[in-house]
Amino acid sequence: CGIVGYIGANDACPFLLAGLQRLEYRGYDSAGIATLRPSDQIRVTRVAGRVADLDAAVKKKSMAGNLGIGHTRWATHGAATAENAHPHSGGNGVLSLAHNGVIENYESLKSVLQSKGYVFHSQTDSEVVAHLIAECLKLSMVKHAGEVSINCYVEAVQDAISQLRGTYGLVIVFRDQADLLIAARCGSPLVVGVGKGEQYVASDTSPLIGFTDRIIYLADHQIAVIRPDNIQVLHRDQGRIRPDIKELTADAVDVTLEGYAHYMLKEIYEQPHSITNALRGRLDKDNATAKFGGLNLTTQQLRSVERIVLTGCGTSWHSALVGEYLFEELARIPVEVEYASELRYRNPPTDRDTVIFGITQSGETADTLAALREMKRKGHHTLAICNVIGSSIAQEADGGIYLHAGPEIGVASTKAFTSQLTVLSMLALYFGRLRHLSYEAGQRIIAQLEMLPEVIQKTLECHEHVKHIAARYADATNFLYLGRKYNFPTALEGALKLKEISYIHAEGYPAAEMKHGPIALVDEHTPSVFIVPNGTVYDKVLSNLQEVKARGGPVIAIVDHEDPQVANLADEVIMIPQIEDFLQPIVASIPLQLLSYEIALLRGCDVDMPRNLAKSVTVE
Ligand code: G6P
Repeated sequence: CGIVGYIGANDACPFLLAGLQRLEYRGYDSAGIATLRPSDQIRVTRVAGRVADLDAAVKKKSMAGNLGIGHTRWATHGAATAENAHPHSGGNGVLSLAHNGVIENYESLKSVLQSKGYVFHSQTDSEVVAHLIAECLKLSMVKHAGEVSINCYVEAVQDAISQLRGTYGLVIVFRDQADLLIAARCGSPLVVGVGKGEQYVASDTSPLIGFTDRIIYLADHQIAVIRPDNIQVLHRDQGRIRPDIKELTADAVDVTLEGYAHYMLKEIYEQPHSITNALRGRLDKDNATAKFGGLNLTTQQLRSVERIVLTGCGTSWHSALVGEYLFEELARIPVEVEYASELRYRNPPTDRDTVIFGITQSGETADTLAALREMKRKGHHTLAICNVIGSSIAQEADGGIYLHAGPEIGVASTKAFTSQLTVLSMLALYFGRLRHLSYEAGQRIIAQLEMLPEVIQKTLECHEHVKHIAARYADATNFLYLGRKYNFPTALEGALKLKEISYIHAEGYPAAEMKHGPIALVDEHTPSVFIVPNGTVYDKVLSNLQEVKARGGPVIAIVDHEDPQVANLADEVIMIPQIEDFLQPIVASIPLQLLSYEIALLRGCDVDMPRNLAKSVTVE
């Protein structure tokens, strides 16, 4: 979910709404803002729907105020309704807050508060925090009877959060304090933007760009007491601390569709360019290797790496699976791939010479962040392969590599995936060349990598053909995606793309494994997409394709040469350019991205903001 806050001389609404728009990648099922003028009630507008719906609702009301907070939600507790949307009121309008994270003990707190007469209007865990702070404020007022000051409010927040178990990023406004905004963080990122006579809060830096270039990253257990002309930061154990003001250097996130119908389509077409950016300055032809600036490991340390763990979620986890094949083959290093959500709660017996790579487009995925923290705590060097500069994971990892793919707006990841694969290929080359990989092999790999942008450009020419194929299968209710070796993860990613944006059930499988279960799904209505380019497993995949055909299943085959064998068997053939097998997932993903895009369009789905999903999942 996304949070924004504003306090200062201007009207809060423009910043709140613009900020929420930039944060919509974190969730877009409901949204709301609360604003305040001196000696007035807190005004709240909430909608079930997108920020654009909120914008329209705000225009119909008077929401002017010099203080305000906003939120865009990805539902965890309670459905995506206006009642469950944030901000939530506490103590009958005494305060209003927006919350990110999950409160684990909300049920027990709720029953205590209900017994004290607090009435709940939502099913969220966040409303519990609102009433809890109101209750603590009541007690704090009694304690400070006669001399109510800002301290009462700060103490109330401190008291309330000390009772919370779970994670939170909170911003709070109080009805009777029109020049006070309090923000508190534990496990859910918050950034304070420092201005002149006005201050900002947000759950990441994107809303602040263009408003201020001075920022304070709040750390866990810190509270920011924000007034129009000053900011105090308090730590739970250390008391008042001096905030470390950093410079915000990112360019304004001004992303337009540039004539494309959807961001996803634009991002698919940007891939020749985004891959060029991933490669830029990183190929070292003289030494037949790759080079990276930010790994923060000495050559000696890099040589003594005994094991690599690759972790991530969703599409980034699929990149990790390709990475496993790459590192094993090119660098001969044992690799483990872990879902970040599993890794964070496992206790794997890893030794000191294990390096952890967190792969993440956004750099904000809660599970990936937590898994890296856990591994760091155990003494491992953690590295991020990340797209968003200055994101939480980019900051917390010990080092890393940026993708430089530019903002990815479409929820279904496309260009970030192929850039991740490009970076992983270069990393495997790099590690390989520090070990046994020959100069000649290094040169060959570089030559293949250099070809990539042009090859991708050529691959995009299959679009029209893919569109026709999409029209023939858009009504299917099940799809299978099958490939082997490097193209097993390609199959998983193809299936995920289709699921995400067209809501068709799709399963990716290693082609041979299909006969141990999924083959039962094969009938004349279930298309199987086979990724069957030339390579060491070509014959094997062809046999698997025959097994599907023998059972009457329609087959869409992706090949990389005129292939009469496949042409005779398959119902549809999509041709991609030839490239060595370790780069095939990048190339073969292009028609799969286009296929899911075209099918989703035909089914009338919202391609860029599919139901139930968020671009970045910032809760666990
Ligand atoms: C969400 C998105 C996926 C993405 C995953 C990991 O689920 O919908 O498209 O692959 O998060 O995101 P990350 O930013 O860490 O790569």
